Amino acid sequence: MGKIRILPDLLASKIAAGEVVERPASVVKELIENALDAGGRQIRIEVELGGKKLVRVADDGEGMTRDDALLAFERHATSKIASVEDLEHIVTLGFRGEALPSIAAVARVLLRTKTAADLVGTEVEIEGGKIKDVRECAWAGGTEVHVRDLFYNVPARRKFLKSDTTELFHVTNLVTHYALCYPRVAFRLKHGGRTLLDVAAVETLRERAYQVFGADFLASVVELEHVGEGVRVYGFASKPNWGRTTREAQYFFVNGRYVRDRVLAQALSESYRTLLPSGMHPAAVLFVELPPSDVDVNVHPAKIEVRFRRPAQVQAAIIEAVRRALQQARPVLEVKRPVEDRPRTHSERALAREAFRLQAPLAPSTSRQPSLGLAFSARKAPEEGKAFAPSEAASPEVLGARSPISPQCLARPSLDDVAEEGAAERIRLLGQFRQSFILAATDRELLLIDQHAAHERILFERFQEQLAREALPAQPLLVPEIIELTPAQHAAFESARQDLARLGIEVGEFSGRALALTALPADVPISEARPLVLELLEVADQERRSSPERLRDRLAASLACRAAVKINTPLTEAMMRWLVEELFRASFPMSCPHGRPVVVRFTLREIERLFHR
Ligand SMILES: Nc1ncnc2c1ncn2[C@@H]1O[C@H](COP(=O)(O)OP(=O)(O)OP(=O)(O)O)[C@@H](O)[C@H]1O
Ligand SMILES: [Mg+2]
Repeated sequence: MGKIRILPDLLASKIAAGEVVERPASVVKELIENALDAGGRQIRIEVELGGKKLVRVADDGEGMTRDDALLAFERHATSKIASVEDLEHIVTLGFRGEALPSIAAVARVLLRTKTAADLVGTEVEIEGGKIKDVRECAWAGGTEVHVRDLFYNVPARRKFLKSDTTELFHVTNLVTHYALCYPRVAFRLKHGGRTLLDVAAVETLRERAYQVFGADFLASVVELEHVGEGVRVYGFASKPNWGRTTREAQYFFVNGRYVRDRVLAQALSESYRTLLPSGMHPAAVLFVELPPSDVDVNVHPAKIEVRFRRPAQVQAAIIEAVRRALQQARPVLEVKRPVEDRPRTHSERALAREAFRLQAPLAPSTSRQPSLGLAFSARKAPEEGKAFAPSEAASPEVLGARSPISPQCLARPSLDDVAEEGAAERIRLLGQFRQSFILAATDRELLLIDQHAAHERILFERFQEQLAREALPAQPLLVPEIIELTPAQHAAFESARQDLARLGIEVGEFSGRALALTALPADVPISEARPLVLELLEVADQERRSSPERLRDRLAASLACRAAVKINTPLTEAMMRWLVEELFRASFPMSCPHGRPVVVRFTLREIERLFHR
């Protein structure tokens, strides 16, 4: 007798359900995706006990006939694809025909639905995968699904659910980000009768972001929009001074589907290289759109992973989008009053913002996050090619404008801070503080500039640009400087020799492990020669396996640091003026090449508040 047997249907579907439904947020995700696929314009979500007791999602989409409502609970029953070819061009969030049967296998489900053509609606009751009842019902239209007692028949799974608060947090996070992705759809989320999110349909992502996260969020991010080769990237990325210690505040959507993806995360990190201190990560919500045939969404049962046909193009588009937005916005650190001074009035907004801040993963680790390749084009107004684009402020004309300080203030007056408008006047120098910081002012803000960091940033960008083309000019030393190396340093020197030469550092063998330094880059004082060479050797050694650009940037950063004016150094007015002017001409004046802030600004509004005006 053989030992292999085919599992009974019910058991098989419970096992399959485990891949799709991990927690209440997975159910919410599948139901929201179905509602979006059905063309819903208003999606109402209600949960109880973090979704463990009840998840209810109602939409005003196309609905289903009685026959379809029954078929919908069959495994592999879908209206969204019909052939193998369709798999290559998926334009809906769903396509596997698995979500409803999976949910129904592990919960008590009630579905009510009606199409516009039908006079009466259908109500289906199904429990643990078994249909209990099907009847006619009076129903206005659209579809509503109640999912009660999740995992009531899978105790092992139920035990893994977290506290109501944690589960609610995942649900909120998920709904919040889907709401962000679909501004033209109204979303409402209630928990036990309390409204946590209630946003009407709007036209732009920016408006939706304001509805969901409020003005503080918008002030902490730059908005991006870029169309690369066959890829469009838009969304928000944090200003460099708002780095986090984890990557959890990074959300990626591909063709309207929430995904977790290394290709995208890597590109985002790369965009912030030299702008954030090491170990810090940006926060971002990035929406990537590309032709459905360029992305495979059929990689993971929960549809949370994707594969790109041309990952390098996607990465390039992201890097370009983020870098360009940061370069245009040139955000510098703003001094804010303590948090308690900024009242958080609406509970739902606070919660949504909290969801962003706490950086919880958007969705359960195995739940399926559907995407809506189609939905993007569908909900886009046909008149404008880039209708879904952020605000008008991102238009090329505005982005093209350059001004000495924070042009984002000109381009997009922030919603809560009128005082920032027109902050582009010339900067007046006020003086130096403790021979380390430069004080300056415009009509609307006071600026405090770290002289060393500023000079470092200026030199760094210059070196970076020069090194991309040629070697840096070297200045011969009258008397060679002898540097003793350890065996390890000597080995590093052997492999870094060419890189050092390119930096303008010329070295002759002296004897044994001693080097004779014969020339230095023009900007570096002789007193820095020794520590500089040792530091460069260390960096070259650490970055042996990195890309040439990364190595170049790190070497340039070390060089800039050694060559830059130190703190505790008196500066003449002319030097300060030069520093400030050059700084605001730099591409990224907000951070030094090691990611520390360069400028801190006190807006007029903040100053007035401090004086209770
Ligand atoms: N809210 C809804 N409004 C209208 N039709 C719906 C709705 N939800 C589900 N359906 C119909 O039921 C079918 C089955 O839904 P289900 O979520 O199980 O599969 P799917 O969305 O096709 O694929 P996936 O398993 O990838 O989500 C859908 O293809 C759709 O035709
Ligand atoms: Mg579905």
